[in-house]
Amino acid sequence: MLSAIMNRRSIRNYKNLQVPKHMIEEILQSGILAPSSKNRQPWRFLVVTGNAKDEALAVMKKGISREKEHPLLPESAQYLSGSENTLRIMEKAPVIIFIVNSIGIDIHSSLKPEERIYEICNAQSIGAAIENMILTATELGLGSLWICDTYFAYKELCDYLKADGELLAALALGYADETPPSRPRKSMDDVVEWRN
Ligand SMILES: Cc1cc2nc3c(=O)[nH]c(=O)nc-3n(C[C@H](O)[C@H](O)[C@H](O)COP(=O)(O)O)c2cc1C
Repeated sequence: MLSAIMNRRSIRNYKNLQVPKHMIEEILQSGILAPSSKNRQPWRFLVVTGNAKDEALAVMKKGISREKEHPLLPESAQYLSGSENTLRIMEKAPVIIFIVNSIGIDIHSSLKPEERIYEICNAQSIGAAIENMILTATELGLGSLWICDTYFAYKELCDYLKADGELLAALALGYADETPPSRPRKSMDDVVEWRN
């Protein structure tokens, strides 16, 4: 098995150190090389650092506050405090990459079955790209965190970022300032069924 698969952890504490641009480019290139449904390559990556990162995260914070007052995702209220925690992690990471499904449909619209299938296929493609990117980051000695808590500020972030598509996730990158243990996994017996 690839050592990056074994060694990767979600990193939630980062050193105050910049990441060289060539490393960010290598990570992005590994995402671009991912397989995608019908080779649609639906991803777009918005890389934010410095002031641009501060501004984007201020928008995310506003979105989370709005969500508390006027929820667009009322059934997920129990996860709101987790999103504030994720925001604090993002503030510490020197690089945030927002990942957009450039042909995605707004999460607040209802979908026909075929549209839903396209969305599922495109989301899988983007998941493959993100996995490539976090494994490359690990290989380069960087920590990373795959983030979906951006959904609480979906509307605000899409408007602010002029995302032109569906904001699917964010990826925090930086030098790890922690060495978390591996989190438990279900066993093969729990999740695999062999049929001969
Ligand atoms: C699709 C996806 C979304 C995630 N969103 C968040 C998030 O918003 N905040 C966070 O702290 N961790 C997030 N995580 C990280 C998971 O909590 C983590 O992968 C899981 O607990 C297993 O730990 P490990 O990555 O260290 O193996 C996300 C992971 C995935 C795959």
